[in-house]
Order: sequence, then C-alpha cells, then structure tokens
Amino acid sequence: MERKQSWLFLVLCNLRFAILVFLCSSCFCNATESPQYKVVHSESDVEIRLYGESSWVSALVSDATSFEKSTKDGFHRLYQYIHGSNLNSSRFKMTAPILTSITPSANGSDYFVRFYLSSKYEGGPPQPYPELNLLFDKWKSHCVAVRQFSGFAKDDNISKEKEALVTSLDNILSGTTDNMKDKNSYTVAQYNASNHLSGRLNEVWMNVSGFTAEGCPSY
Ligand SMILES: *[C@@H]1O[C@H](CO)[C@@H](O)[C@H](O)[C@H]1NC(C)=O
Ligand SMILES: *[C@@H]1O[C@H](CO)[C@@H](O)[C@H](O)[C@H]1NC(C)=O
Ligand SMILES: *[C@@H]1O[C@H](CO)[C@@H](O)[C@H](O)[C@H]1NC(C)=O
Ligand SMILES: *[C@@H]1O[C@H](CO)[C@@H](O)[C@H](O)[C@H]1NC(C)=O
Ligand SMILES: *[C@@H]1O[C@H](CO)[C@@H](O)[C@H](O)[C@H]1NC(C)=O
Repeated sequence: MERKQSWLFLVLCNLRFAILVFLCSSCFCNATESPQYKVVHSESDVEIRLYGESSWVSALVSDATSFEKSTKDGFHRLYQYIHGSNLNSSRFKMTAPILTSITPSANGSDYFVRFYLSSKYEGGPPQPYPELNLLFDKWKSHCVAVRQFSGFAKDDNISKEKEALVTSLDNILSGTTDNMKDKNSYTVAQYNASNHLSGRLNEVWMNVSGFTAEGCPSY
C-alpha cells in the first residue's frame, strides 16, 4: 500500500516537473534576450523608444562600402566570440537584435557590428581572443527613432529605409532635425537568423534627443 502511494507520488511529481520544464522552455528559458526599452512616442511608420543602459560587444569593419559584406565579416568575428573564442571559453546564448551602425568615414563607411550582452555580464564579460579585434561598448540611456521593415536588409535598400525614417522624423519634429545628434549615422537592427526566409523583422534606428517631455535625455 505504502509502496503504491509513493509510486503515485513520484508519478505526480514527475508530471509536475515535466509541465514545469515545458512551461519554462516555452515561455522563459528559450526567450531571446534583448535590450529593454519603453515606447515614448508612436506614429504609423515611426516609433521613438527610450532604451535603458545597454552593453554590446562590437566588431569594427572600417572604410568599407558594403553593408552586407561588412555585417557578414563583423558577425563572423562576433560568432566566434560567442561560441567560445574568449579567455573563459564561455558560450553565450544568442541575443537580438544584431546591430550594424553605419558612420561615414574617409573612403566609405565605418561599420560597427554589435551583439547585445545579457545584463548578467554587466560586471565584466569574458575577454575575446585578441585576434578577433573586438571592442566593448556601454551605451547610456538614450532615445532612438525606429522604422521597421521586412525581408532581408540589403545594400540596395537600407539607405532608402533610412531616408524614409528621416522624412517621418522631419514631420514629427516639424523640420527641426536639430533633435538629431548625428543625421549621418544610423543603425540597422536585424532580429532573425539568416535561415529564416519569411516573417523577418528589421529596423533602422537613429539617435534622437530633445523629446525631453517624453523623458528622452537631451545631450
Ligand atoms: C582614402 O583613400 C586615399 C586614396 O586612395 C588614400 O590616400 C587615403 O589614405 C585613404 N584614407 C583613409 C583614411 O584610409
Ligand atoms: C573569466 O575567468 C577569470 C579567470 O578565471 C575569472 O576571474 C572571471 O570571473 C571570469 N569571467 C567571467 C565573465 O566568467
Ligand atoms: C547613439 O547614442 C548612444 C548613447 O549616447 C551612443 O553610445 C551611440 O554611439 C550613438 N549611436 C550612433 C550611431 O551615433
Ligand atoms: C527593402 O526590401 C524589403 C524586402 O526586400 C522590402 O520589404 C522593403 O519595402 C524595401 N524597402 C524599400 C525602401 O524599398
Ligand atoms: C523574427 O524576429 C521577430 C522579433 O524577435 C519575431 O517576432 C519573428 O517571429 C521572427 N521571425 C521568424 C521567422 O522567426
């Protein structure tokens, strides 16, 4: 009798455990970590977000001309880092989005490809192998204007997406793009792995300040 009860207890226990594992893996454990933000202004084709502090590991591809090639080169270095090419042989869970920040340079553009570092590494992330030539960036809290687009982010249309974002922003800010710290720099955020062919989400980001009423820090 006693044996039967304890057996039943075990079954129930395991069932509960199994459900717990299932819930956990479907809701929490597999969730991709992303930097936290709050939407402070929203229109049909543009959103202003206030991001909290965030840490990134970055690969610089300098004086290049192709967004696609630079993102691929930079991501390849980051991929090695997050798969163990660091002094702790640590492996990281994938986070999203992967950013490519584009800034004009002497003979083309500088492309910073960035991987978001989970807040658990705030204290100090593992050091990359030096030959990967990676940098750590800590971003203070700031506002970004965001425009979403689908498909693959490509050389032939990211600058169009950026121009469309600037146009929407000009409307919101009634032509005073003073609120944009640097009108020439922008960032492409990609959320999906390259083997996802449909239902892809990308964004173009530009730093803004001056939405002080909404809580955006001014510079
Ligand atoms: C840009 O290109 C010119 C001509 O090819 C070269 O002399 C110059 O050093 C380059 N500048 C940089 C920053 O690479
Ligand atoms: C990496 O390893 C060093 C030395 O073993 C240790 O002090 C440090 O805390 C580790 N860092 C992380 C992020 O695990
Ligand atoms: C946007 O602002 C953050 C925080 O001030 C800064 O670290 C980052 O370099 C800026 N990005 C661009 C593309 O200018
Ligand atoms: C860029 O390409 C994507 C997918 O190919 C498309 O959804 C988007 O509308 C294009 N953007 C522009 C501005 O042409
Ligand atoms: C792409 O990423 C976005 C944002 O995380 C997600 O909502 C969407 O379902 C993803 N698409 C695919 C095909 O996985």
